[in-house]
Amino acid sequence: MSDKSGKSDKNDRSDQGDRSDEYARSAPDSPLAALKDRRIILTVTGGIAAYKAAELSRLLVKSGALVRVVMTEASQKFVTPLTFSSLTGGPVATDLWENHSSSENSSQLNNITHVAWSQWAEAIATAPATADFLAKLAHGLADDLASATALAFNGPRLVAPAMNTQMYLNQATVDNLELLRRRGYRIASGSEGLLACGTVGKGRMASVWVIAMELARLLSSGPLKGKKVVVTGGATREPWDDIRFLSNRSSGLMGLALAQAAWLMGADVTYISGPAAAEPPETLEGLRVMKIGTTQDLYETVEDNLEGAWALVMNAAPADFRPKDLVRGKISKSGQQVPSLVLARTVDILSSLKPKKGNTIFVGFAAEEDSLIERAKEKLKRKNLDYIAANQAGGSGSAFGSESISLNLLSAKGSMQTIGPTSKFQASWLLWERVLASEQ
Ligand code: CTP
Repeated sequence: MSDKSGKSDKNDRSDQGDRSDEYARSAPDSPLAALKDRRIILTVTGGIAAYKAAELSRLLVKSGALVRVVMTEASQKFVTPLTFSSLTGGPVATDLWENHSSSENSSQLNNITHVAWSQWAEAIATAPATADFLAKLAHGLADDLASATALAFNGPRLVAPAMNTQMYLNQATVDNLELLRRRGYRIASGSEGLLACGTVGKGRMASVWVIAMELARLLSSGPLKGKKVVVTGGATREPWDDIRFLSNRSSGLMGLALAQAAWLMGADVTYISGPAAAEPPETLEGLRVMKIGTTQDLYETVEDNLEGAWALVMNAAPADFRPKDLVRGKISKSGQQVPSLVLARTVDILSSLKPKKGNTIFVGFAAEEDSLIERAKEKLKRKNLDYIAANQAGGSGSAFGSESISLNLLSAKGSMQTIGPTSKFQASWLLWERVLASEQ
C-alpha cells in the first residue's frame, strides 16, 4: 500500500476481516492499551481543530491502534495528508475517485476505497467534526470520500464536534447531534473554553485523551454495559485542627484504575475518592467523580450512591481513627505544653452498610503486613463481603504508592484466584472479569 507521501504502510499490518471478541484479547495493561491492534479510521474535517487530530492520530498509533486517515478537502487547508502519513505511518485517503484500497484487499472484488476501508475498520472517529459534516452524516449525504465511507460503515462511530459557539448552539446543529446520538453515535463533547475565533463558550473539541478513551470504550465488547458500579479509592483525612489532619499513604492509583477499567468495560461508574495523588486527567461521560474528605463523608457518599449498584468495590483506605475533638483554628506551640491527641474510632463503612447491601456485590480490599490470607478471610466474613482482594502491605512487595500490584481474590464461596504481579490497571481489569465470570 502506498500513500501520498510514498511511505509504506507500516501501521496497516492487520487486515483480518472479522471483528474479534475482546474476551479473546488479553487484559490491557493501561487504559489506552485497550486500543491495541484495533482498526480505526480517523476522519478529519475542515476546522482549525484539525491540527489536534494530528496529535490524536499519534496517540492512537502509540497506543497500538492501526490507523487509516480520511481527510476532507477543507481539512487539507489546515493540515496536510503528509502530516498524518508521517505521524501514523499509515495510509491517508482524500479522494472518492482515487483507489486507496490496500494491497491486502486487492484479492477482494471490492477495491473501491470507501467500501473497502469501511469493511476494514472496526470504528470510525471523526475529529474534528464540523457543523457541515455533522449535517451530512445526519442526512446521509455521500458526496465525498469521508461522508461516503461513513455511510458505508455500520460499526461503532464517534464524532468530536468542533466549531464556533453560535454554530454549535444553532438548533440545526443541536438537532443533527441529537439525531446522530439516537442512531448510536458517541458524541465526544469538549469543555467550554476559549475558541480560535476568540469566543469563550461551547464548541471546543474534546481533548485527544478523551477521544481516545471514548474510542477504547466504544471498541470494548462492554461486558459491564448496563451495570452501575461504585468504586472508592484514596485515603481519607481526619482533621485535628483547621490545618492538621491524620491520613495515610494511599495514592488512589488502584481506585482510579478500578474506576477506569470498569468504565472502559462499559459500566456506569461512580468513583468516590479521597484526597489522592492520582487524579483522573479529565471527566468522562459516564464516569462520575465525587471527592470526599473524612471517613464519615466517605460513608455517607457511598450510602447515597449505593442504590441500584451491581457492585461496590471499596478500595479506599479510610482512616480507622480520628482525633476525638476538632480544634478550631491552628493549635499553636507557643505558650503551652505539647498537646495530647486523643483518638476516636471512625465508622466501619462496609460493616455499617450491611443492612443496605441488598443484591449489590461487595468487594473489599485487605492490605496486610502478615498472615495475608488468614486475615483477609476473617475480614471477608466479618464485613459480610462477597469478595476480598488481599494484597501485601509493607516490605518490597507493598502496593502502596506503587504502579503494580499482586492480588489474591477470595470469594465468600471459598474460591481463591491470584492476579499479578502486574500493573494496577491490568489487575483491575482482571478483577472485574473474574467477579463477572463468578457471578454468571
Ligand atoms: N474499610 C471500611 N471502613 C473502614 C476501614 C476500612 O469499610 N473504616 C474497608 C476498606 O475499604 C477495605 C476493607 O474495609 O475494603 C478492609 O480494610 P482494612 O483497613 O484492611 O480493614 P480494617 O477493618 O480497618 O481492619 P484492620 O485495621 O484490623 O486491618
